[in-house]
Amino acid sequence: MSCQHGIDDLREATTQDIDAIEKVYKSAFPEEESESVTKLAVQLLKDNETSPKIYSFVALLKNTVVGHVSFSPVVDANDVGFRGYILAPLAVQSDYHKHGIGSKLVKHGLEQLTNVGVHAVFVYGDPGYYGRFGFRADIAENTKVDYEVKYPSGWQGLILNDCHHTETGTRNISVHAALCDEELW
Ligand SMILES: CC(C)(COP(=O)(O)OP(=O)(O)OC[C@H]1O[C@@H](n2cnc3c(N)ncnc32)[C@H](O)[C@@H]1OP(=O)(O)O)[C@@H](O)C(=O)NCCC(=O)NCCS
Repeated sequence: MSCQHGIDDLREATTQDIDAIEKVYKSAFPEEESESVTKLAVQLLKDNETSPKIYSFVALLKNTVVGHVSFSPVVDANDVGFRGYILAPLAVQSDYHKHGIGSKLVKHGLEQLTNVGVHAVFVYGDPGYYGRFGFRADIAENTKVDYEVKYPSGWQGLILNDCHHTETGTRNISVHAALCDEELW
């Protein structure tokens, strides 16, 4: 499909973008979901204390934010050398869906994380969408979070840089406090 609404810019988000980002989430998600994902996006954007850092990117069209994505680090307490991230949340303003904006945000984030040596990225979402970036459920099946995921096939992983396997083959990861909300899983 041709991109009638090619974005003009894609950059790291700042706290000045919060109002615009909230609008994007409110337009993209149904009302019952928008509150929790908006809260997640804003909490992650405001937290500049984590190490490694949280990445938040916005896509702009005519100086207006039309898309947003966050990537937050995860920790495996039994393997401190492991560098993993979770992609969440992601949204594109509803009038601009299917113009490649979501893909550009995801690919840009994955490229940045690859360049800084991140081993793997996880996502909980529709395999029909995330599969197009190489995310696969079998990559994530031995990586456990503290939550019972409602749709196990939606829990997917993508290897960016090679990493050694754990002795048991299983990882238990902790996620950012903002993701510790049962409604998100
Ligand atoms: C998912 C989302 C971010 C995609 O953004 P986008 O800019 O429209 O995405 P792109 O233009 O890069 O890709 C669009 C393609 O993905 C497909 N797609 C979008 N959502 C999909 C889904 N849930 N499952 C499968 N395919 C999906 C579209 O049908 C389209 O397919 P096509 O290329 O064959 O026409 C956007 O639809 C959105 O904000 N949705 C609501 C919020 C949401 O679901 N966020 C993800 C939560 S995990």
